[in-house]
Amino acid sequence: MIEFNHILNALPWPSLLVGPDLRVGKFNSAAQSMFRLEGSDTLLVNIMRHPSVLEAVDVSLTAQIEQKTRYVQRQIEGETVFKVHIRPVDPTAGVMVCFENIQAAELLNQQRRDFVANVSHELRSPLTVMIGVLETLQGPAKSDPLAQETFLAIMAAEADRMRLLIKDFLALSQVEDLQRQRPQTEISIAAVIAQACGHVEHAMKVAGVEFISSAGVALPAVLGDHTQLVQVFVNLLENAIAYGAGAQNPRVRLDVEIVEFDLELHIPVLRICVSDTGPGIPAHLVPRLTERFFRVDAHRSLNAGGTGLGLAIVKHILQRHRGRLDITSVEGSGTTFAVVLPL
Ligand SMILES: Nc1ncnc2c1ncn2[C@@H]1O[C@H](COP(=O)(O)OP(=O)(O)OP(=O)(O)O)[C@@H](O)[C@H]1O
Ligand SMILES: [Mg+2]
Repeated sequence: MIEFNHILNALPWPSLLVGPDLRVGKFNSAAQSMFRLEGSDTLLVNIMRHPSVLEAVDVSLTAQIEQKTRYVQRQIEGETVFKVHIRPVDPTAGVMVCFENIQAAELLNQQRRDFVANVSHELRSPLTVMIGVLETLQGPAKSDPLAQETFLAIMAAEADRMRLLIKDFLALSQVEDLQRQRPQTEISIAAVIAQACGHVEHAMKVAGVEFISSAGVALPAVLGDHTQLVQVFVNLLENAIAYGAGAQNPRVRLDVEIVEFDLELHIPVLRICVSDTGPGIPAHLVPRLTERFFRVDAHRSLNAGGTGLGLAIVKHILQRHRGRLDITSVEGSGTTFAVVLPL
């Protein structure tokens, strides 16, 4: 005969058997650690005071019907949200109370809501400008060719901004779609770097940036998605030019290094650093850089045509490659973005 406790312990969720006297008769080890339970027969109210749970248990016991409710556990480390399932066993044994952790799903929902709100906000700004300009063109500037030219240029710039935004949204959702499929093709990282550098060459010249690259050395092949990795380096180099080129004699470096043993991944990796001599980023903001729509200096980023999605895209692409992005920044002297790819 299998012991009831063993069955309870095999359940994935913290679970309690609450008797008609509202005492916790049995519990599994997950519930024991969640509520720091010591012995059985503790009153339910002594381990949790959440009115909605107590009420649902009461209803379930009295009416012998299933109940569901939510329970938010508050701890020093933060909040965890549970969906509580309460099901009658029989009138003498009481009810089973199971706690399903829905924190991850809640977080995902929240992120989705935030994303939609952010996207709407980002699209609304250029649209508002365009509507304003249209009204001016239809009214005050109706017969002023010079003003018309200026306003049409503004409209073109705003339309282009919307196009860029949508391009970035699509890139992000495409990267997310492929997230679980690790690339299987061997590609030349030297070719990736060369293509990305070619892409930003003109922008470097315009910004007067001196570019130093040590990527000429023979590099091993990696398993990767060529187009996505070009995107990674284009995004990093564009950022270095846009935000890292403020200082006098702006310089951008690209350095490649083979690391025989990566301390985090415990395997050999390729480490490719893009560093600039710009103003740097305050330390407390560094962890937030890869958040969608996060900009250190919103005004400056908007002027550079930025959407705040570039580094989020980089992070997702590198996750797909089982790699990562290390960011180190020294305020006043520059920032280094290190792309780490497994070999
Ligand atoms: N090299 C850098 N030096 C200083 N700040 C940087 C650097 N790279 C990025 N940042 C800051 O991080 C923010 C986020 O960068 P990210 O590339 O994600 O977005 P963006 O450049 O604003 O827009 P996008 O890349 O989508 O066009 C930037 O707005 C900028 O404030
Ligand atoms: Mg960018």
